[in-house]
Amino acid sequence: MSKADIIVGIQWGDEGKGRVVDLYTKDYDVVARFGGGDNAGHQIKVGDTELALRIVPSGVLNPRAELFIGGGTVVNPQGLLDELDRLAAIGIDTSRVKISDRAHVVLPYHAAADRANERARGANAIGTTGRGIGPAYADKVARTGITFADFAQPTVLADKVRMNRSARETLLEGETLPSEEEIVASIREAAARLSSHVVDGVAYLHGKLENDKRVLIEGAQGALLDVGYGTYPYVTGSHTIAGGACTGLGIGPTAIGRVIGVVKAYCTRVGGGPFPSELLDATGEALRAAGGEFGTVTGRPRRCGWFDAQAGRYAVRLNGLTSLVVTKLDVLSGFERLGIVTGYRLGASAVDFGAAGSPGLEVELEWLEGWSEPLGDVRSIGALPPAARRYVARIEELLSTPVELVSVGRERTQLAR
Ligand code: IMP
Repeated sequence: MSKADIIVGIQWGDEGKGRVVDLYTKDYDVVARFGGGDNAGHQIKVGDTELALRIVPSGVLNPRAELFIGGGTVVNPQGLLDELDRLAAIGIDTSRVKISDRAHVVLPYHAAADRANERARGANAIGTTGRGIGPAYADKVARTGITFADFAQPTVLADKVRMNRSARETLLEGETLPSEEEIVASIREAAARLSSHVVDGVAYLHGKLENDKRVLIEGAQGALLDVGYGTYPYVTGSHTIAGGACTGLGIGPTAIGRVIGVVKAYCTRVGGGPFPSELLDATGEALRAAGGEFGTVTGRPRRCGWFDAQAGRYAVRLNGLTSLVVTKLDVLSGFERLGIVTGYRLGASAVDFGAAGSPGLEVELEWLEGWSEPLGDVRSIGALPPAARRYVARIEELLSTPVELVSVGRERTQLAR
Protein backbone atom coordinates (compact mmCIF):
# COMPACT_ATOMS: atom_id res chain seq x y z
CA MET A 1 0.00 0.00 0.00
CA SER A 2 1.58 3.27 -1.05
CA LYS A 3 1.07 6.68 0.49
CA ALA A 4 0.00 9.75 -1.43
CA ASP A 5 2.06 12.95 -1.36
CA ILE A 6 0.41 16.36 -1.38
CA ILE A 7 1.49 19.66 -2.92
CA VAL A 8 -0.49 22.66 -1.65
CA GLY A 9 -0.27 26.42 -1.91
CA ILE A 10 0.15 28.12 1.45
CA GLN A 11 -0.71 31.74 0.62
CA TRP A 12 -3.68 33.14 -1.34
CA GLY A 13 -3.17 30.96 -4.41
CA ASP A 14 -0.99 31.77 -7.44
CA GLU A 15 2.12 30.46 -5.69
CA GLY A 16 3.15 28.56 -8.82
CA LYS A 17 1.88 25.12 -7.79
CA GLY A 18 1.26 24.08 -11.40
CA ARG A 19 4.91 24.12 -12.38
CA VAL A 20 5.96 22.45 -9.13
CA VAL A 21 3.48 19.63 -9.74
CA ASP A 22 4.72 19.42 -13.34
CA LEU A 23 8.25 19.02 -12.03
CA TYR A 24 7.46 16.33 -9.45
CA THR A 25 5.01 14.44 -11.65
CA LYS A 26 7.62 12.26 -13.37
CA ASP A 27 7.85 10.18 -10.19
CA TYR A 28 4.12 9.50 -9.98
CA ASP A 29 1.51 7.28 -11.66
CA VAL A 30 -1.53 9.39 -10.76
CA VAL A 31 -1.90 13.14 -10.23
CA ALA A 32 -5.15 14.04 -8.46
CA ARG A 33 -7.06 17.27 -7.84
CA PHE A 34 -9.17 17.26 -4.67
CA GLY A 35 -11.02 20.57 -4.64
CA GLY A 36 -12.01 23.72 -6.45
CA GLY A 37 -12.93 23.94 -10.09
CA ASP A 38 -12.02 26.11 -13.05
CA ASN A 39 -11.45 29.07 -10.71
CA ALA A 40 -7.89 27.72 -10.59
CA GLY A 41 -5.48 28.66 -13.35
CA HIS A 42 -2.38 26.51 -13.29
CA GLN A 43 0.25 27.56 -15.79
CA ILE A 44 3.13 25.50 -17.05
CA LYS A 45 5.67 26.83 -19.52
CA VAL A 46 7.52 24.36 -21.74
CA GLY A 47 9.73 26.09 -24.28
CA ASP A 48 7.42 28.37 -26.23
CA THR A 49 4.28 26.53 -25.22
CA GLU A 50 2.28 27.88 -22.34
CA LEU A 51 -0.25 25.43 -20.93
CA ALA A 52 -3.06 27.02 -18.95
CA LEU A 53 -4.89 24.33 -17.01
CA ARG A 54 -8.11 25.03 -15.18
CA ILE A 55 -9.37 21.70 -13.88
CA VAL A 56 -7.22 18.99 -15.43
CA PRO A 57 -4.36 18.21 -12.98
CA SER A 58 -0.94 19.64 -13.83
CA GLY A 59 0.60 16.19 -14.43
CA VAL A 60 -0.45 16.22 -18.11
CA LEU A 61 3.09 16.41 -19.40
CA ASN A 62 4.02 13.04 -17.90
CA PRO A 63 2.56 10.71 -20.54
CA ARG A 64 2.49 7.83 -18.04
CA ALA A 65 0.43 9.61 -15.40
CA GLU A 66 -3.31 9.28 -15.07
CA LEU A 67 -5.02 12.54 -14.18
CA PHE A 68 -7.78 12.25 -11.61
CA ILE A 69 -10.38 14.92 -10.89
CA GLY A 70 -11.53 13.94 -7.39
CA GLY A 71 -14.91 13.90 -5.70
CA GLY A 72 -14.30 17.15 -3.82
CA THR A 73 -14.12 19.20 -7.00
CA VAL A 74 -16.85 21.14 -8.81
CA VAL A 75 -16.57 20.79 -12.57
CA ASN A 76 -18.07 22.79 -15.40
CA PRO A 77 -18.61 20.04 -18.02
CA GLN A 78 -18.38 22.36 -21.00
CA GLY A 79 -15.21 23.96 -19.62
CA LEU A 80 -13.70 20.52 -19.08
CA LEU A 81 -14.57 19.43 -22.61
CA ASP A 82 -12.97 22.60 -24.03
CA GLU A 83 -9.87 21.95 -21.95
CA LEU A 84 -9.69 18.33 -23.13
CA ASP A 85 -10.00 19.52 -26.74
CA ARG A 86 -7.19 22.06 -26.24
CA LEU A 87 -4.94 19.38 -24.76
CA ALA A 88 -5.79 16.87 -27.49
CA ALA A 89 -4.95 19.52 -30.10
CA ILE A 90 -1.35 19.63 -28.84
CA GLY A 91 -1.07 15.86 -28.91
CA ILE A 92 -1.87 15.00 -25.29
CA ASP A 93 -3.70 11.71 -24.74
CA THR A 94 -6.77 12.84 -22.80
CA SER A 95 -8.13 9.33 -22.22
CA ARG A 96 -5.87 9.45 -19.14
CA VAL A 97 -8.23 12.00 -17.53
CA LYS A 98 -10.62 10.39 -15.01
CA ILE A 99 -13.42 12.13 -13.12
CA SER A 100 -14.86 10.90 -9.85
CA ASP A 101 -18.56 10.10 -9.98
CA ARG A 102 -18.81 12.11 -6.72
CA ALA A 103 -17.57 15.37 -8.29
CA HIS A 104 -20.26 18.04 -8.60
CA VAL A 105 -21.37 19.70 -11.80
CA VAL A 106 -21.22 23.49 -12.27
CA LEU A 107 -24.04 24.79 -14.46
CA PRO A 108 -24.91 28.20 -15.96
CA TYR A 109 -27.21 29.08 -13.06
CA HIS A 110 -24.25 28.75 -10.66
CA ALA A 111 -22.23 31.36 -12.54
CA ALA A 112 -25.33 33.60 -12.70
CA ALA A 113 -25.82 33.21 -8.93
CA ASP A 114 -22.12 34.00 -8.37
CA ARG A 115 -22.53 37.29 -10.29
CA ALA A 116 -25.80 38.17 -8.53
CA ASN A 117 -24.30 37.43 -5.08
CA GLU A 118 -21.32 39.64 -5.83
CA ARG A 119 -23.58 42.50 -6.97
CA ALA A 120 -25.63 42.18 -3.78
CA ARG A 121 -22.49 42.44 -1.65
CA GLY A 122 -21.66 45.82 -3.25
CA ALA A 123 -18.54 47.31 -1.67
CA ASN A 124 -17.99 44.06 0.25
CA ALA A 125 -17.78 41.95 -2.90
CA ILE A 126 -15.44 38.96 -2.50
CA GLY A 127 -13.97 39.43 -5.96
CA THR A 128 -14.72 35.85 -7.02
CA THR A 129 -13.60 34.48 -10.35
CA GLY A 130 -17.28 34.44 -11.39
CA ARG A 131 -17.13 30.74 -12.29
CA GLY A 132 -20.01 29.70 -10.01
CA ILE A 133 -17.75 27.87 -7.57
CA GLY A 134 -19.36 29.10 -4.32
CA PRO A 135 -22.95 28.46 -5.51
CA ALA A 136 -22.01 24.97 -6.75
CA TYR A 137 -20.57 24.10 -3.32
CA ALA A 138 -23.65 25.68 -1.71
CA ASP A 139 -25.83 23.29 -3.76
CA LYS A 140 -23.65 20.38 -2.66
CA VAL A 141 -24.14 21.22 1.01
CA ALA A 142 -27.85 21.95 0.49
CA ARG A 143 -28.13 18.47 -1.07
CA THR A 144 -29.47 19.89 -4.30
CA GLY A 145 -26.28 19.45 -6.30
CA ILE A 146 -25.87 17.38 -9.42
CA THR A 147 -23.00 14.90 -9.47
CA PHE A 148 -21.24 13.12 -12.30
CA ALA A 149 -22.95 9.93 -11.08
CA ASP A 150 -26.23 11.58 -12.17
CA PHE A 151 -24.88 11.69 -15.73
CA ALA A 152 -25.67 8.01 -16.03
CA GLN A 153 -29.35 8.66 -15.24
CA PRO A 154 -30.80 11.10 -17.78
CA THR A 155 -34.21 11.41 -16.13
CA VAL A 156 -32.78 12.16 -12.68
CA LEU A 157 -30.47 14.67 -14.32
CA ALA A 158 -33.27 16.51 -16.11
CA ASP A 159 -35.45 16.59 -12.98
CA LYS A 160 -32.65 18.04 -10.89
CA VAL A 161 -31.81 20.71 -13.47
CA ARG A 162 -35.49 21.68 -13.65
CA MET A 163 -35.82 21.92 -9.87
CA ASN A 164 -32.63 23.93 -9.39
CA ARG A 165 -33.19 26.30 -12.25
CA SER A 166 -36.76 27.17 -11.30
CA ALA A 167 -35.81 27.56 -7.62
CA ARG A 168 -33.36 30.24 -8.70
CA GLU A 169 -35.40 32.01 -11.33
CA THR A 170 -36.84 34.74 -9.10
CA LEU A 171 -33.53 35.18 -7.25
CA LEU A 172 -31.66 35.84 -10.45
CA GLU A 173 -33.48 38.80 -11.90
CA GLY A 174 -31.26 40.67 -14.32
CA GLU A 175 -29.38 37.50 -15.29
CA THR A 176 -30.09 35.74 -18.56
CA LEU A 177 -30.36 32.05 -17.92
CA PRO A 178 -30.53 29.42 -20.65
CA SER A 179 -33.87 27.60 -20.65
CA GLU A 180 -34.29 24.27 -18.85
CA GLU A 181 -34.37 22.52 -22.21
CA GLU A 182 -31.14 24.21 -23.31
CA ILE A 183 -29.37 23.32 -20.07
CA VAL A 184 -30.59 19.72 -20.16
CA ALA A 185 -29.64 19.35 -23.84
CA SER A 186 -26.14 20.71 -23.34
CA ILE A 187 -25.56 18.68 -20.20
CA ARG A 188 -26.73 15.49 -21.93
CA GLU A 189 -24.32 16.12 -24.75
CA ALA A 190 -21.49 16.77 -22.29
CA ALA A 191 -22.50 13.69 -20.30
CA ALA A 192 -22.27 11.53 -23.40
CA ARG A 193 -18.84 12.90 -24.29
CA LEU A 194 -17.51 12.62 -20.75
CA SER A 195 -19.00 9.23 -19.87
CA SER A 196 -15.82 7.32 -20.70
CA HIS A 197 -13.90 9.48 -18.21
CA VAL A 198 -16.24 9.01 -15.22
CA VAL A 199 -15.13 6.41 -12.66
CA ASP A 200 -16.14 5.27 -9.19
CA GLY A 201 -13.73 7.69 -7.54
CA VAL A 202 -13.24 5.83 -4.27
CA ALA A 203 -12.67 2.43 -5.87
CA TYR A 204 -10.36 4.06 -8.44
CA LEU A 205 -8.01 5.86 -6.06
CA HIS A 206 -7.91 3.16 -3.40
CA GLY A 207 -7.24 0.59 -6.12
CA LYS A 208 -4.20 2.63 -7.17
CA LEU A 209 -2.87 2.95 -3.61
CA GLU A 210 -3.47 -0.73 -2.87
CA ASN A 211 -1.50 -1.62 -6.01
CA ASP A 212 1.42 0.49 -4.83
CA LYS A 213 0.92 3.13 -7.51
CA ARG A 214 2.45 6.48 -6.63
CA VAL A 215 -0.15 9.20 -6.19
CA LEU A 216 0.55 12.94 -6.14
CA ILE A 217 -2.24 15.17 -4.87
CA GLU A 218 -2.38 18.69 -6.25
CA GLY A 219 -3.99 21.52 -4.29
CA ALA A 220 -5.82 24.43 -5.85
CA GLN A 221 -5.87 28.01 -4.51
CA GLY A 222 -4.04 28.37 -1.19
CA ALA A 223 -4.42 27.86 2.56
CA LEU A 224 -5.45 31.47 3.21
CA LEU A 225 -8.43 31.01 0.83
CA ASP A 226 -9.67 27.90 2.68
CA VAL A 227 -13.42 28.14 3.32
CA GLY A 228 -12.99 27.37 7.01
CA TYR A 229 -9.54 28.69 7.93
CA GLY A 230 -8.83 31.43 5.40
CA THR A 231 -9.80 35.09 5.62
CA TYR A 232 -13.53 34.28 5.74
CA PRO A 233 -15.74 35.40 4.03
CA TYR A 234 -13.06 36.44 1.51
CA VAL A 235 -12.29 32.85 0.62
CA THR A 236 -13.15 30.25 -1.98
CA GLY A 237 -15.85 27.59 -1.56
CA SER A 238 -13.68 24.59 -0.68
CA HIS A 239 -11.16 23.33 1.85
CA THR A 240 -7.85 24.08 0.20
CA ILE A 241 -5.61 22.84 3.04
CA ALA A 242 -4.02 19.39 3.08
CA GLY A 243 -6.87 17.96 5.18
CA GLY A 244 -9.16 18.83 2.26
CA ALA A 245 -7.28 16.22 0.24
CA CYS A 246 -8.60 13.52 2.59
CA THR A 247 -12.23 14.61 2.35
CA GLY A 248 -11.93 15.61 -1.31
CA LEU A 249 -10.58 12.23 -2.34
CA GLY A 250 -12.11 9.91 0.26
CA ILE A 251 -8.83 8.81 1.83
CA GLY A 252 -7.76 8.78 5.47
CA PRO A 253 -4.90 10.80 7.02
CA THR A 254 -2.85 7.58 7.31
CA ALA A 255 -2.79 7.39 3.50
CA ILE A 256 -0.76 10.61 3.28
CA GLY A 257 3.04 10.70 2.96
CA ARG A 258 4.77 14.00 2.34
CA VAL A 259 3.03 17.39 2.44
CA ILE A 260 4.92 19.97 0.39
CA GLY A 261 3.93 23.63 0.71
CA VAL A 262 4.49 26.01 -2.19
CA VAL A 263 5.16 29.59 -1.16
CA LYS A 264 5.97 32.60 -3.31
CA ALA A 265 9.00 34.63 -2.19
CA TYR A 266 6.61 37.57 -1.61
CA CYS A 267 2.82 37.73 -1.26
CA THR A 268 -0.01 38.33 -3.72
CA ARG A 269 -3.76 38.07 -3.61
CA VAL A 270 -6.58 38.68 -6.10
CA GLY A 271 -10.00 39.84 -5.04
CA GLY A 272 -11.04 41.51 -1.78
CA GLY A 273 -10.21 40.73 1.83
CA PRO A 274 -7.47 41.21 4.41
CA PHE A 275 -3.84 41.30 3.27
CA PRO A 276 -1.71 42.53 6.18
CA SER A 277 1.60 42.78 4.29
CA GLU A 278 0.10 44.53 1.24
CA LEU A 279 2.14 47.34 -0.34
CA LEU A 280 -0.09 50.04 -1.78
CA ASP A 281 2.87 52.11 -2.96
CA ALA A 282 5.46 52.12 -5.74
CA THR A 283 7.18 49.06 -4.24
CA GLY A 284 3.94 47.07 -4.61
CA GLU A 285 3.72 48.21 -8.22
CA ALA A 286 7.35 47.26 -8.80
CA LEU A 287 6.66 43.76 -7.44
CA ARG A 288 3.59 43.45 -9.72
CA ALA A 289 5.57 44.50 -12.77
CA ALA A 290 8.62 42.36 -11.99
CA GLY A 291 6.53 39.28 -11.18
CA GLY A 292 3.95 39.71 -13.97
CA GLU A 293 1.28 39.54 -11.29
CA PHE A 294 -1.94 39.48 -13.27
CA GLY A 295 -4.63 36.80 -12.75
CA THR A 296 -4.55 33.81 -15.11
CA VAL A 297 -8.33 33.28 -14.97
CA THR A 298 -9.59 36.85 -14.83
CA GLY A 299 -6.59 38.96 -15.94
CA ARG A 300 -7.03 41.15 -12.85
CA PRO A 301 -3.91 42.86 -11.44
CA ARG A 302 -2.88 41.02 -8.29
CA ARG A 303 -2.39 42.88 -5.03
CA CYS A 304 1.27 42.58 -3.97
CA GLY A 305 3.12 42.73 -0.65
CA TRP A 306 6.11 41.55 1.36
CA PHE A 307 6.56 37.94 2.42
CA ASP A 308 4.36 37.32 5.45
CA ALA A 309 5.92 34.86 7.88
CA GLN A 310 3.06 35.20 10.35
CA ALA A 311 0.66 33.96 7.66
CA GLY A 312 3.25 31.36 6.63
CA ARG A 313 3.53 29.89 10.13
CA TYR A 314 -0.26 29.69 10.30
CA ALA A 315 -0.37 27.82 7.00
CA VAL A 316 2.42 25.45 8.09
CA ARG A 317 0.28 24.52 11.09
CA LEU A 318 -2.92 24.09 9.06
CA ASN A 319 -1.24 21.81 6.54
CA GLY A 320 1.29 19.89 8.65
CA LEU A 321 3.98 20.62 6.05
CA THR A 322 7.04 18.42 5.72
CA SER A 323 8.92 20.78 3.35
CA LEU A 324 8.67 23.99 1.36
CA VAL A 325 9.21 25.04 -2.24
CA VAL A 326 9.91 28.77 -2.65
CA THR A 327 8.89 30.20 -6.03
CA LYS A 328 9.77 33.36 -7.95
CA LEU A 329 12.85 34.27 -5.92
CA ASP A 330 14.31 35.79 -9.12
CA VAL A 331 11.57 38.46 -9.07
CA LEU A 332 13.19 40.01 -5.98
CA SER A 333 16.53 40.72 -7.71
CA GLY A 334 17.15 44.46 -7.80
CA PHE A 335 15.20 45.48 -4.67
CA GLU A 336 17.63 47.33 -2.38
CA ARG A 337 16.06 45.89 0.76
CA LEU A 338 13.32 43.34 1.36
CA GLY A 339 10.72 43.34 4.10
CA ILE A 340 9.41 40.24 5.85
CA VAL A 341 6.40 40.49 8.14
CA THR A 342 7.34 38.61 11.30
CA GLY A 343 4.30 39.27 13.48
CA TYR A 344 0.98 41.08 13.96
CA ARG A 345 -0.04 43.39 16.79
CA LEU A 346 -3.30 44.79 18.03
CA GLY A 347 -2.29 47.59 20.38
CA ALA A 348 0.23 46.10 22.80
CA SER A 349 -0.77 42.47 22.15
CA ALA A 350 0.83 40.07 19.68
CA VAL A 351 -1.93 38.31 17.71
CA ASP A 352 -2.06 35.35 15.32
CA PHE A 353 -3.21 35.23 11.69
CA GLY A 354 -6.82 34.79 12.83
CA ALA A 355 -6.81 38.53 13.56
CA ALA A 356 -5.69 39.44 10.01
CA GLY A 357 -8.92 41.32 9.26
CA SER A 358 -9.14 43.22 12.56
CA PRO A 359 -9.29 47.02 12.35
CA GLY A 360 -6.13 48.59 13.71
CA LEU A 361 -3.95 45.54 13.00
CA GLU A 362 -0.27 46.47 12.74
CA VAL A 363 2.52 44.40 11.28
CA GLU A 364 6.06 43.96 12.53
CA LEU A 365 8.55 44.20 9.69
CA GLU A 366 12.07 42.89 9.54
CA TRP A 367 14.39 44.25 6.80
CA LEU A 368 16.81 42.09 4.90
CA GLU A 369 19.48 43.26 2.50
CA GLY A 370 18.51 42.78 -1.16
CA TRP A 371 20.68 41.59 -4.05
CA SER A 372 21.10 42.88 -7.57
CA GLU A 373 22.30 39.77 -9.42
CA PRO A 374 19.84 37.98 -11.73
CA LEU A 375 19.24 34.42 -10.46
CA GLY A 376 18.04 32.71 -13.66
CA ASP A 377 21.19 30.62 -14.13
CA VAL A 378 21.63 29.49 -10.52
CA ARG A 379 20.96 25.75 -10.04
CA SER A 380 21.81 25.17 -6.39
CA ILE A 381 20.61 26.97 -3.27
CA GLY A 382 24.22 27.12 -2.08
CA ALA A 383 25.22 29.03 -5.23
CA LEU A 384 22.70 31.84 -4.72
CA PRO A 385 24.19 35.28 -3.97
CA PRO A 386 24.77 35.52 -0.18
CA ALA A 387 21.87 37.94 0.41
CA ALA A 388 19.45 35.68 -1.50
CA ARG A 389 20.69 32.68 0.46
CA ARG A 390 20.09 34.56 3.71
CA TYR A 391 16.57 35.46 2.52
CA VAL A 392 15.72 31.80 1.85
CA ALA A 393 17.32 30.73 5.14
CA ARG A 394 15.22 33.31 6.99
CA ILE A 395 12.01 31.95 5.44
CA GLU A 396 13.08 28.46 6.46
CA GLU A 397 13.79 29.63 9.98
CA LEU A 398 10.62 31.67 10.45
CA LEU A 399 8.42 28.86 9.11
CA SER A 400 10.43 26.10 10.88
CA THR A 401 10.26 24.04 7.69
CA PRO A 402 13.09 23.01 5.35
CA VAL A 403 13.20 24.49 1.83
CA GLU A 404 13.84 21.74 -0.73
CA LEU A 405 13.62 23.75 -3.92
CA VAL A 406 13.67 27.36 -5.12
CA SER A 407 12.41 28.53 -8.50
CA VAL A 408 14.52 31.19 -10.21
CA GLY A 409 12.75 31.68 -13.55
CA ARG A 410 9.78 30.63 -15.63
CA GLU A 411 11.44 27.83 -17.57
CA ARG A 412 11.14 24.26 -16.34
CA THR A 413 14.89 24.08 -15.81
CA GLN A 414 15.21 27.27 -13.78
CA LEU A 415 15.33 25.63 -10.36
CA ALA A 416 17.84 25.65 -7.53
CA ARG A 417 18.03 22.65 -5.16
P1 IMP B 1 -14.08 31.86 -6.16
O1 IMP B 1 -13.19 30.71 -5.87
O2 IMP B 1 -14.26 32.13 -7.63
O3 IMP B 1 -15.38 31.77 -5.42
O4 IMP B 1 -13.35 33.18 -5.59
C1 IMP B 1 -13.17 33.39 -4.20
C2 IMP B 1 -11.83 34.05 -3.92
O5 IMP B 1 -10.79 33.12 -4.23
C3 IMP B 1 -11.54 35.30 -4.76
O6 IMP B 1 -10.76 36.19 -3.98
C4 IMP B 1 -10.71 34.75 -5.91
O7 IMP B 1 -9.88 35.75 -6.47
C5 IMP B 1 -9.89 33.71 -5.17
N1 IMP B 1 -9.41 32.62 -6.05
C6 IMP B 1 -10.10 31.58 -6.54
N2 IMP B 1 -9.30 30.78 -7.27
C7 IMP B 1 -8.08 31.31 -7.23
C8 IMP B 1 -6.81 30.92 -7.76
O8 IMP B 1 -6.65 29.89 -8.43
N3 IMP B 1 -5.76 31.75 -7.49
C9 IMP B 1 -5.90 32.85 -6.71
N4 IMP B 1 -7.05 33.25 -6.19
C10 IMP B 1 -8.13 32.49 -6.44
